[in-house]
Amino acid sequence: MDTFVIEGGRRLSGSLRVNGSKNAALPLLVCSLLTDQPVTLKDVPDLADIRNMVRLLGELGCERITTPEPTTLTLKVHDATQSHARYDIVRTMRASISALGPLLARRGYARVSMPGGCSIGERPVDLHLRGLRALGADITLNGGDIVARAPRGRLQGAKIFLGGQFGSTVLGTANVMSAATLATGTTIIESAACEPEIVDVANLLNRMGARITGAGSPRITIQGVDRLNGAEHVVMPDRIEAGTLMCAAAITNGDLVLENCPLDALMAAREVLSTAGVHVSEMGSGADPMRTTCRVTCERVLRPAEFTTQPHPGFPTDLQAQFMALLTLADGNSIITERVFPERFLHVAELSRMGAHLLRQGATVVVQGVRKLVGAPVMASDLRASAGLVLAGMAAQGTTIVHRVYHLDRGYEKLEDRLCAVGASIRRVDDKELGGSPTEG
Ligand code: UD1
Repeated sequence: MDTFVIEGGRRLSGSLRVNGSKNAALPLLVCSLLTDQPVTLKDVPDLADIRNMVRLLGELGCERITTPEPTTLTLKVHDATQSHARYDIVRTMRASISALGPLLARRGYARVSMPGGCSIGERPVDLHLRGLRALGADITLNGGDIVARAPRGRLQGAKIFLGGQFGSTVLGTANVMSAATLATGTTIIESAACEPEIVDVANLLNRMGARITGAGSPRITIQGVDRLNGAEHVVMPDRIEAGTLMCAAAITNGDLVLENCPLDALMAAREVLSTAGVHVSEMGSGADPMRTTCRVTCERVLRPAEFTTQPHPGFPTDLQAQFMALLTLADGNSIITERVFPERFLHVAELSRMGAHLLRQGATVVVQGVRKLVGAPVMASDLRASAGLVLAGMAAQGTTIVHRVYHLDRGYEKLEDRLCAVGASIRRVDDKELGGSPTEG
């Protein structure tokens, strides 16, 4: 298993381009199930989750057409008879659940293995199923699989309330919205997720001939159409990668220029950075606010900040661990509350091993800023927690060893190479070289 060996204390300086968004690319790729024409996506990041999704779509009859550009993916359905997303793929990637709506809408039948829990909590799919049932689907559970049928082969438009205990659901909204594109009549999704990735999916679907309005707001209206066509689409830049790189600049007291940065989708994070003394300034003007060039610098002493994670446009849960790592070095007490995944705190114990002072009470962590972090062996537990540990390692005195970086590889393409290009010292090694990885559990 791969491990990172990080020598801390290097200041980052230079320029990096933000890649296409993983969380947009995954539901965008499944849109290819909705048509028999080719769907082309540009600026798709090369990540384990993306490769898994392409493998799943391959099993569902979508052929990958080779293109000269490595970040461009073209998919085309050549066989619509296989509609079973099997457990051994679904368990590696929960986003496989996004195939349920498109399969059901286009083929009238879908069988998708029920995703289990994961290290950040239980993660139920009840809202996805509630939404699809409202569109008329008949859904049962059989042998651990969700088995869904559209009566007489077609879903029917409906008014759907998609809010849950923790607010809206991102992939649930993508699932129901894409399914409704081919339903008869009009669908209204109330309490829809407002995340920019939903807007990106709606934009592709509209290019394919769908009639969706209101994406990005809590009420999305979809007028069903009889068929969708192929289309081409550039994936939006990854706002979580951009936020992570901003933290990387700040925690190393560095000076980074980020190109292709979706500043417009990062307002809550930018506000917290500003409180902490981190300046994010847009360079040039008149550019697309979702693809800006910006410069990140920070004051010598970081100030404490408070934030609560919330659905968009609130502070994103996917940046909570990275901001916690940053605030461990602030001059004072910060307060972080997690409202989307209240158990998403596995990084707390690992950051504490590096000298952070963290006090957790339920879904809130008080971060007592310390003057320095000290390198230590730590274990990555989920994708974003791993990013938090890498950030802490870059700021710590001495050597930090981050085990199980396969979690990180799910969401960040060659992160170590990119950070090293702007001054970090991170080596990827096989943990056998270091005497093996600590055991889990
Ligand atoms: C997506 C992102 C993930 C991010 C999360 C929240 C992708 C591939 N993943 O995950 O990185 O952390 O949004 O921004 O885009 N819930 C229910 N019932 C459901 C569905 C969700 O109760 O049927 C709850 C969840 O447990 C959670 C909250 O709703 O507490 C939000 O989850 P959701 O928005 O669905 O997350 P994902 O779409 O799976």
